[in-house]
Amino acid sequence: MRPLLIAGNWKMHFGRAEGLALVDALLAEAASVPAERELLVLPPFTLLAPLAERLRGTRLRLGAQDLHWEAKGAYTGGVSGPMLRDAGCDYVLVGHSERRLHFGDRGEALARKLRAALNSGLRPIYCLGESLAEREEGRTGQVLAGQFDEGLAGLEAAAMRGVTLAYEPVWAIGTGRTATPETAQQAHAGLRARLAAAFGETIARETRILYGGSVKAENAAALLQGPDLDGALVGGASLSAEAFLGIARAPRGAA
Ligand code: PGA
Repeated sequence: MRPLLIAGNWKMHFGRAEGLALVDALLAEAASVPAERELLVLPPFTLLAPLAERLRGTRLRLGAQDLHWEAKGAYTGGVSGPMLRDAGCDYVLVGHSERRLHFGDRGEALARKLRAALNSGLRPIYCLGESLAEREEGRTGQVLAGQFDEGLAGLEAAAMRGVTLAYEPVWAIGTGRTATPETAQQAHAGLRARLAAAFGETIARETRILYGGSVKAENAAALLQGPDLDGALVGGASLSAEAFLGIARAPRGAA
C-alpha cells in the first residue's frame, strides 16, 4: 500500500537557529511516528543547506517550496532543480496555491516546473485545489480536472511514478476551516479516477494524494480515514514540533 507522507510546509518562516531547533525537536521524537510513515520538511531556500547537514542519515526528508523551470541561466532570483538536489532536497512543491496567487504560477510554467523537477531527480508534489467561489458554484471537479491537466497532461506514465499530488482547497488553507473527511475523500477519489484515466490503474493505485488545509493533530485521524488520503501537507501546524508530530502520529482508520 501507499506509505503515508506527512509534509511540513514552513512557508516564509524561520532563520537558521529556529529551523535547526525545530528539526532537532522533530528528530528527538521521530521514533514515536510509525516507521513506515515518511516525514518531510519544506523550509525556505536559505535553510536547505544547513538542514541537509543535520538531517543526513535520519528519517526526516528535505524538500523545497518551489523551483525554476530552467536548470541554469540569467534568471535573477531563481533557484533550479539541480541546485535543490545539490542542496540535499528530495522533494519540491509545485503549484502551491500561494504561488499561484502571489507569484503568478500557472499553466505552462507549472508543467515546465514539474518536468524540471523530475529531470533533476526531485520528487514534485503537485498542489491543486479550488477556491471558495469555485466550490460554491459547483465547479470543484472541473477546476481540479483543469489543474490536473495543466500540470500533468502529456507526462509519461513512468515519469508519473515520481509525482505526488496534494489536494489543497484554497478556502481551507490557513483559515482554520478544514474540509470534512467526506469532502476531502470525494475530491481525492476524483483525482484518483483521473489518474487512472490518464495514466492507467497501476499509477492510480501507486500515486500518493496528500490533503492540505488547516490540518491539525485534532482533525488528522478523521481525515486520514479516507481510503484515498495518503498523508498531509501541513502549513501552520508544521511550525511546532508538537503539533506536527501529533499529526504524524495520528492513528489511521480511527477517528
Ligand atoms: P495550513 O497550510 O496548514 O496552514 O492551512 C497548508 C498549506 O498551505 O500547505
